[in-house]
Amino acid sequence: MTNRRRFVQQSLAASTGVFYIAKTSWAQKSPGDTINVAVIGFGGRGGSHISGYRGQSKDGVRVAALCDVDQKVLSKGIAGFEKDKLQVTGYTDIRKLLENKDIDAVSIATPNHWHSLASIWAMQAGKDVYVEKPVSHNVWEGRQMVKAARRYGKMVQTGTQSRSSREGIGAAAKWVQEGNLGKILLSRGLCYKKRGSIGKAEGPQTIPDTIDYDLWCGPAPKTALTRKRLHYDWHWTWAYGNGDLGNQGIHQMDIARWFLGEMALSPRVWSLGGRLGYEDDGETANTQIVYHDYEKAPLIFEVRGLPQSKEAKDMDKFKGAGVGVIVECERGHVVVPSYSNAIAYDREGKQIKEWKGSEDHFKNFILACRSRRVEDLHADILEGHLSSALCHTGNISYRLGKQAQPDAIREQIQGDRFAQDSFDRMGEHLAKNGVDIKQNPITVGPPLKFDPETERFIDNDAANAFVRPPYREPYVVPEIS
Ligand SMILES: NC(=O)c1ccc[n+]([C@@H]2O[C@H](COP(=O)([O-])OP(=O)(O)OC[C@H]3O[C@@H](n4cnc5c(N)ncnc54)[C@H](O)[C@@H]3O)[C@@H](O)[C@H]2O)c1
Repeated sequence: MTNRRRFVQQSLAASTGVFYIAKTSWAQKSPGDTINVAVIGFGGRGGSHISGYRGQSKDGVRVAALCDVDQKVLSKGIAGFEKDKLQVTGYTDIRKLLENKDIDAVSIATPNHWHSLASIWAMQAGKDVYVEKPVSHNVWEGRQMVKAARRYGKMVQTGTQSRSSREGIGAAAKWVQEGNLGKILLSRGLCYKKRGSIGKAEGPQTIPDTIDYDLWCGPAPKTALTRKRLHYDWHWTWAYGNGDLGNQGIHQMDIARWFLGEMALSPRVWSLGGRLGYEDDGETANTQIVYHDYEKAPLIFEVRGLPQSKEAKDMDKFKGAGVGVIVECERGHVVVPSYSNAIAYDREGKQIKEWKGSEDHFKNFILACRSRRVEDLHADILEGHLSSALCHTGNISYRLGKQAQPDAIREQIQGDRFAQDSFDRMGEHLAKNGVDIKQNPITVGPPLKFDPETERFIDNDAANAFVRPPYREPYVVPEIS
């Protein structure tokens, strides 16, 4: 870093008393300069971040720092660098890391409840950001991230790597939007991914002494640990995770919205489902339908965490996809069965076209860090915010739901053939898993009206309470004007 840049940062930091807002940091770097990246949180996914940047060392990218609140994870990460005789600085507290002016970009793979705060703090400290999906834990904070990226002139890439399938999924979406299969009737996302019971902890669990639990909880309430495994299983607790809808599902929610070309949240949403088939410490649904009632065509999302049947290991597939997207059109349909390809079929089910190919999402982030052009990002934060928030609004309807009998549900969705089809198939799937939905009623959320302009629900305080929940001091996501 140039001395001038450091001087400007220090004097501004001193005058404002907050993290420096560095609009100029990159303008002063020349394209050939090394980009110093810090990876924040690498218990699982962050490992791919580390290798994603280390793989670009010949292109002037250096992993200069690692940060994890678990000292055990941190030490293991540092050892991986030492083995290769590489220097890396370790941190447990993100705030200390962000004071390091030599870091140009951060790459965040912490649990979801930390994504927005870590991203905004990083931007305010002058760093570009790669942040895992879902980019937010609630609707409001996701929008603050978009505002922050624009206000501070930062590149913010969402970790939805299928967006780097330009010649694959992107080309298919464009082809559909050009009307090659007629009008879109429905965009359907599927997350049929096996999720077993996480077990039941008998009372509060001991926090391993390698973990700074206050920092781990961060913006979320600091409550006793009531699941067996602290790491990873937070996905199924509302205070930190967003269920599989906001875990695996966000990738397919994003692709389903990509095909529709929608750049706003849906004006009406409802959801139903349950955590069925076992009893454990998880709270989120393992079986769920979300219906986004876009004017052009609905977006329906289906989550299934149970297998094909009680005895089976394999998961269901629908029209060739298990974790994928199916776009129904007037003259055929397109299936996206992976993160990098799409296949078009005519009305008779004959394959008529296929698209394949993908680029490296981490490389694309670095490219945009150098070019300083938001348009160069394959998954700009606005895309990440919208797709993440479609998961959140779906979950809000579900969380406001009440248990209902199948007949009452059928009555409610009567006349909507797509919703009926999804519900009937869900019932059959559950029956095969020994779940009788008369005995174990489904939770049905209310249809909620949403204003895509203000990104708030209309006349519904209970729903809006989930749009912007309170934060725990001092881990408060700042409001960005
Ligand atoms: N893009 C993908 O394909 C993909 C795949 C898997 C996971 N993910 C996402 O990556 C994120 C992490 O998932 P995971 O499975 O690795 O979770 P994990 O719980 O296994 O790992 C998270 C790590 O973050 C650390 N951490 C928590 N708070 C921190 C903080 N404030 N500062 C620094 N470190 C902190 C934890 O100690 C842990 O080591 C999630 O948001 C998940 O949705 C994305």
